[in-house]
Parts: sequence; C-alpha cells; structure tokens
Amino acid sequence: MVASSRSTGKKINFKGKEHEVLDLENFDFSKVKIAFFAAGGEISKKFAQKAAKNCLVIDNSSYYRMDPEVPLIVPQVNSDDLKNINKNIIANPNCSTIQLVIALKPLHDLFAIKRIVVSTYQSVSGGGKAPMDELIEQTKLVLDNKKVKSKNFTKQIAFNVIPHIDVFSDDGYTKEELKMTNETKKILDDKINLTATCVRLPVLVSHSESVNIEFEKPYSLAKVREALDNFEGCKVIDDRTDGGYSTPLEAEGKVETFISRIREDKTIKNGLNLWIVSDNLLRGAALNAVEIAEALIKNNFYGK
Ligand SMILES: NC(=O)c1ccc[n+]([C@@H]2O[C@H](COP(=O)([O-])OP(=O)(O)OC[C@H]3O[C@@H](n4cnc5c(N)ncnc54)[C@H](OP(=O)(O)O)[C@@H]3O)[C@@H](O)[C@H]2O)c1
Repeated sequence: MVASSRSTGKKINFKGKEHEVLDLENFDFSKVKIAFFAAGGEISKKFAQKAAKNCLVIDNSSYYRMDPEVPLIVPQVNSDDLKNINKNIIANPNCSTIQLVIALKPLHDLFAIKRIVVSTYQSVSGGGKAPMDELIEQTKLVLDNKKVKSKNFTKQIAFNVIPHIDVFSDDGYTKEELKMTNETKKILDDKINLTATCVRLPVLVSHSESVNIEFEKPYSLAKVREALDNFEGCKVIDDRTDGGYSTPLEAEGKVETFISRIREDKTIKNGLNLWIVSDNLLRGAALNAVEIAEALIKNNFYGK
C-alpha cells in the first residue's frame, strides 16, 4: 500500500493482515508487477510513467483515459482493447461511465444506439473521502440549526442538489459531462452521440442515472429485459410496483449494475428510458480496476 508522506507508516488491515503504508516518493516499482493508481490525475501525471517502466499500471484517474495509446477498459464490454497496450498503462474509466456502458453494451449489440440523453444522480463518495465526511458534518449542522460553510462543494450539499461536478469547459458543459460523452465513444462506439447533465446528491455511495436512448433499429421491451438480464454484471429489478426498482442504498456494497424503470419513450422512434444504479466505489472504481488485472491474467496478456 502506497500513499503520501501524510500516511507513511500507518497500518492498514486487509484480509486479516496488517500492511504498512509506504511513501510514493520513495517507492521502488521494480518490486511489483501491477500497480493500481488511485490518487488523482496530478499524481498519475507525475508518477505513472515512471512506474510503467518497471511494472504494469492500472490508472483510476482521468489523466490517461483519452490517450490513444492507452486502452480504456471495462472488461465485460471491451476486453479486446487490452491487445493494444503500448505504454504499459491501462486506464480505468470514470465511475458514471462504467455503469452506463455495462448496461448499454448488450443493447447496442442488438439494436444499435444512435443517441443518448443521460442525467446523473451522483453520490458524494465520487469525490473521495473528504466530501463523504463533509456531507455527514453538514447534515448534523443543519439539523442543529447551525450555519454551514462548504469546503469540498460549491454550495451546501446537505438537503440540497448541485448540478455541477468537476470544472466547467468553455461550452458550458462540465468535465464530468464531457468525460461521459468521450469515454462512452472510446469504449463502445465512436458513432454514438451522448449528451449528459451530471448532478451531485446528498447520498454517500452509489450513482444513479436516468438514461434516454434512441436506437437505429426497432426493439421490444421483452428483448431489452432479456438482453440486460443475461449480460455479465447486469441485474434487472423492474416490478412496476411500489418499491419494485433499485435505489443507491440497496446498490451499496454490491457488484451488479441494477437496471429499473425500463419503458418505451413514446415521443421518438425506437426510444427507450432506463434507470441505472451501481456502487461507484466498487463497480465504478476499485472492482473494475481489479477486474482489468484479472482479465489480463486470464488472457495471458500480463507478463508480455
Ligand atoms: N470515488 C470514485 O467514485 C472514483 C471513481 C473512479 C475514479 N476515481 C478516481 O480515483 C482517484 C482517487 O479517488 P478516491 O475517491 O479514492 O479519493 P480519496 O478518498 O481522496 O483518496 C485519495 C488517495 O490518494 C492519496 N494521495 C493523495 N495525494 C497523494 C500524493 N501526493 N502522493 C501519494 N498519494 C497521494 C491519498 O493518500 P493520503 O491519505 O496519504 O493523502 C489517498 O489514499 C481519483 O483520481 C478519482 O478521480 C474515483
């Protein structure tokens, strides 16, 4: 385990064994075969290439995702792209993209997606541990009728909703929204048009997405359900009764991407609406990174 000098020497228990945290600045990457980077773009920029001279890097940050020489991988969607490892670096997509492409893949294969309109409902853990601690702190302050001053958010997050994740670009979209567009194209199909609105909610874990899809080909709801249910990592929960759908709390700690509220969009030809929920820390980050490593080992790419 490697972190900043702030954590050096700290002991972390993993599977019953204590591991001492080491300092990244002095870490010897020749000692490892695979390094998982999960400390943000600036750290990946500074250290990933140095590490990649000695070992394979699986990078959780956004820094290498759009590099044409770096594969951007969700194993059950595009593991074939693992054949193109040039820099010894593999990128892990953004959390909101991973759960989206997992649900889109089986549908794209059958009915060819033309356009997607997605609105996200993202938990504070997408920003790391500090925003999670702050949501709890802010909630207590509001309940105690005390003044709230936001540190990790642009506005109060407790009992509120913020339509802004990551920095703004010149055209008014945020970087998080552009990541969803660009990463979906890179992973799934460059021809897919996608427009996104990304919103932060006072939820600790799991991201939700309201997704409107326009297909090239006609579909049936029965075929959509069957395709989603049979796809690795997807689970349909769609009873059309009170509570017969997935929510962030229920998705927390689970590995599946849950799909609910499957219904026809009657306002366009071949239109479909879905509600997608998944644990952003597991499926949207750590688990996908580990599954990339497993896919490499399974396909004998690793070690070449
Ligand atoms: N959370 C998600 O849903 C999600 C999804 C996909 C990708 N990601 C990406 O994963 C990365 C981390 O996210 P997180 O949620 O785990 O954040 P986090 O809870 O804030 O953790 C950040 C980690 O990075 C380490 N770190 C910070 N500065 C460092 C430095 N100078 N040298 C070495 N280590 C350093 C920290 O160690 P110290 O404690 O020593 O500072 C800490 O272990 C980000 O790039 C994020 O975009 C997150």
